[in-house]
Amino acid sequence: MRVLVTRTLPGKALDRLRERGLEVEVHRGLFLPKAELLKRVEGAVGLIPTVEDRIDAEVMDRAKGLKVIACYSVGVDHVDLEAARERGIRVTHTPGVLTEATADLTLALLLAVARRVVEGAAYARDGLWKAWHPELLLGLDLQGLTLGLVGMGRIGQAVAKRALAFGMRVVYHARTPKPLPYPFLSLEELLKEADVVSLHTPLTPETHRLLNRERLFAMKRGAILLNTARGALVDTEALVEALRGHLFGAGLDVTDPEPLPPGHPLYALPNAVITPHIGSAGRTTRERMAEVAVENLLAVLEGREPPNPVV
Ligand code: DGY
Repeated sequence: MRVLVTRTLPGKALDRLRERGLEVEVHRGLFLPKAELLKRVEGAVGLIPTVEDRIDAEVMDRAKGLKVIACYSVGVDHVDLEAARERGIRVTHTPGVLTEATADLTLALLLAVARRVVEGAAYARDGLWKAWHPELLLGLDLQGLTLGLVGMGRIGQAVAKRALAFGMRVVYHARTPKPLPYPFLSLEELLKEADVVSLHTPLTPETHRLLNRERLFAMKRGAILLNTARGALVDTEALVEALRGHLFGAGLDVTDPEPLPPGHPLYALPNAVITPHIGSAGRTTRERMAEVAVENLLAVLEGREPPNPVV
């Protein structure tokens, strides 16, 4: 019985699969082209893909005996869930273990944008730092700003906790109100009120380009947008325009397209801080994600209910 793992993973979680007598094939490249994925998935009973592997019906049909797709991620928008359901293939994910790391990175981006950390570092490194000046690189004070969270699952709530420690006021929008000590607003109200809008909602057909041009420009003038969820929640072209005057800045760990190609207009904007989808990239977090993916995969192969099922 063979398991295909589409990237090397930190930690020792894959040893557990080998100890159970499974053959583990790990792809060692930086990415796995679709044609190669199609070849290598043949004959696999289990698949551990990353967010960058599109797992569609074609992939599933190549892997005739495939029983489980154990995603190395909490997001599952890269998997055709309907196709998996139709074929009786289980799909699992890794919720919980990456909550704090992703919330940390969200705050890192918020601070970087609000206090112009990246601009400041470049200013110093490039030899422009000649004097202290009261008006040099003025940014936004977080204290007293309103943070509007769009999506209030585990990560949204972890961001809220951190924001309170910085003296921010928290409001949120979600599909349904939750018993939380923060005001629930409609998306339109939130965009009008929030000084910082942070996205924490899964990418689905309903949330695709949730922040379209109209909504981006409905945000407060001088507000900040943070996205550590999925790039396609935002209309990128409209965001570039909004960043040229309407918004104070944006902190983006995810983009559309992704990876964002060299020379993209977003890179030219000093008020956009872009990181390469590293929200969960704490070593311990990434090791835990591997353990959770392996546990889910083993559960399915051993006929147990997986702890984190999606399908
Ligand atoms: C996820 O888990 O969905 C992140 O995007 C990658 O860790």
